[in-house]
Amino acid sequence: MTTNTQTLLLLPGDGIGPEVTEEARRVAVHVAPDLQIESAFFGGVSYDQFGTPLTEEVMNSARKADAILMGAVGGPQWDSVPRDKRPEAALLAMRKNLDVYANLRPAFCFPALAGASALKRELVEGLDIMIVRELTSGVYFGQPKTIETLPNGERRGIDTQSYTTSEIRRVAARAFELARGRTRTSKFAGVLSCEKSNVMESGLLWREEVTKLHAEQYSDVKLDHMLADAAAMHLVKAPKDINVLLADNLFGDILSDEASMLTGSIGMLPSAALGDPGTPGLYEPVHGSAPDIAGKNIANPIAAILSLEMAMRWSLNRADIADRIFAAVAKALDAGARTADLGGSMSTRQMADAILRHL
Ligand code: IPM
Ligand code: MG
Repeated sequence: MTTNTQTLLLLPGDGIGPEVTEEARRVAVHVAPDLQIESAFFGGVSYDQFGTPLTEEVMNSARKADAILMGAVGGPQWDSVPRDKRPEAALLAMRKNLDVYANLRPAFCFPALAGASALKRELVEGLDIMIVRELTSGVYFGQPKTIETLPNGERRGIDTQSYTTSEIRRVAARAFELARGRTRTSKFAGVLSCEKSNVMESGLLWREEVTKLHAEQYSDVKLDHMLADAAAMHLVKAPKDINVLLADNLFGDILSDEASMLTGSIGMLPSAALGDPGTPGLYEPVHGSAPDIAGKNIANPIAAILSLEMAMRWSLNRADIADRIFAAVAKALDAGARTADLGGSMSTRQMADAILRHL
């Protein structure tokens, strides 16, 4: 039987994951009652239950879903579990299997939170950066990846950074297309591509391929290049210069954590991982499982709710609903809603209720 019903698969995961995902679920039910919502074990909870952090069954449900909304994975109780069974392995396998190579990580400063940033208000007021991180290649997946013992008894850890032309081009194309829809007049008004072409061959290839693709198809978009270390510096010196920041898997991981601190709290930031059109997108808060505050009903649910917002926009074709969710979050913050990470005392549930009131 065929049906037009869209499916959202929830993977609450570990730590604060279940608490914040539950609030996103309540928002989803409110704004899109026709959405079919499913839920499954993922990460540490799946390991405890089934001996693997990602079962074949859950992977298949993910492939069939229109969008997947993940909470968070990991926690100290799984630190001694073999690497391939750790919660993080499930996350990497999910990204790889879905081939969601373009990770969109917005760093947006809500006006009400400009004072909560680690930087001076004038540096972050109006900040709106989109980081595009390559997500399914690079040093996270390159082979060989091993710890070996040398003849002299010393051990050697090896990771391999590797990128092919097509891997670079497809994620860069996403960044250029995003920049086309985000007109700016700032210093780096289009795409700022970051690598270490001064020391890395993969970085040199990255710069060359991005330059070539730009000349072939996107010469209407401004393109700048910057070494990743200099970009780290620029992000705290003059972040508003930057519009779309493109980086590989590892540099993108680091630069997106840095950018998150500009916005007030990492508890605010959503992300979308996208593959080719027509394939399911994977949505997750940028924050981790925060085991120290898990189960206390104090985590900020905004990153999860904004991840739902991104799912509505990028996978479910409901930009109107996405706009409403975004506006409701802004209004709740304007009205003073604050969880502990934002210097307030609202619970997870109370913050979500404050947002729901504006929907
Ligand atoms: C992230 C996280 C993950 C990553 C970890 C948990 C494997 O830091 O999504 O940014 O490094 O990609
Ligand atoms: Mg990270």
